[in-house]
Amino acid sequence: MTDMIKQHGAVPAIQLGHSGRKGSCHGAIEDWRPLTVEDAKSGLPPWQIMTPSAAISPPRPIPPKEMDHDDIKRVIEAFRTATKRSIDAGYDIVEIHGAHGYLIHQFLSSSANQRDDAYGGSLENRMRFAVEVSAAVREEWPQDKPVFFRLSAVDGKGGSWRLPDSIALAKALRAVDIDVVDVSSGGVTGSSDMPMVPRIPAYQASFSGRIRQEASIKTIAVGGITTAKQAEDILQAGDADIIAMARELLWNADWPAHAAEALGVDDPFSYLPTGYAHRLRLREAQKTMDINQDQNLIAKSLRYFLDDNTSS
Ligand SMILES: Cc1cc2nc3c(=O)[nH]c(=O)nc-3n(C[C@H](O)[C@H](O)[C@H](O)COP(=O)(O)O)c2cc1C
Repeated sequence: MTDMIKQHGAVPAIQLGHSGRKGSCHGAIEDWRPLTVEDAKSGLPPWQIMTPSAAISPPRPIPPKEMDHDDIKRVIEAFRTATKRSIDAGYDIVEIHGAHGYLIHQFLSSSANQRDDAYGGSLENRMRFAVEVSAAVREEWPQDKPVFFRLSAVDGKGGSWRLPDSIALAKALRAVDIDVVDVSSGGVTGSSDMPMVPRIPAYQASFSGRIRQEASIKTIAVGGITTAKQAEDILQAGDADIIAMARELLWNADWPAHAAEALGVDDPFSYLPTGYAHRLRLREAQKTMDINQDQNLIAKSLRYFLDDNTSS
């Protein structure tokens, strides 16, 4: 797969994550329905989900296990092993998933973590698991290749993790040589007065800008970015170093080529497959053919075809 991605001039990247209390369920289109013993028959057996604090009710109706120190060590080692496999598989970027209410985020937010050991309580303690996972991944990943970390800049509605916490985390990640912070949001909810992040265009770019500026680390802006101008404006404003997009690319897979054209890049067709680019360059060349330049000639030619009463 990575060979194929590289052949097309792209950079293969992989995201490593652990679902924690959000695991053992079906995907989004089945509304995260928990796996049951019935699902085992089709090769999807349920598993014991783990979380920092079992006392806090999970988003899924499955009783979780509270992680002990052996579980924590085992999961950090699993991240290490997954990193080695990602190198063997030929990836050039690895991203640690520390957002969206998955395991690392569960440790970070006091809305999901009420431990009273070295992994809970103070901000420093709640960040410990994220930092240890990051250090393990960085240790295995080649020094000349980047490690990204995706965080939720703020929790979801009713949560407790805020932007200053993310800035502190970004500084701690920089200290263990994480190269880029990928700034998302949401995934842990609760009963505080924290609102949902409004889904305006580029809705997380200002969080990215603050983290980039205050933690002096490269960032990715993602979320609600749909036009080339939005993307370019975010970069020019210094709110991010990289733009990431998901849903707009489902709608328009050729977005990068269209963005290149919108921003006046030379030969935007070069961002498409060679065969497509060839046809589109021919279409451009047709616009300047002699036969297209003279209205009389065009009318005469069309009359030739439309008034054609001859039969073959
Ligand atoms: C089909 C699909 C799959 C996604 N899978 C992941 C994922 O595995 N990890 C992740 O961090 N975000 C995932 N996301 C979230 C996107 O990375 C992105 O943060 C979010 O969709 C907001 O960006 P957008 O407005 O450009 O879509 C996914 C989004 C979509 C649409």
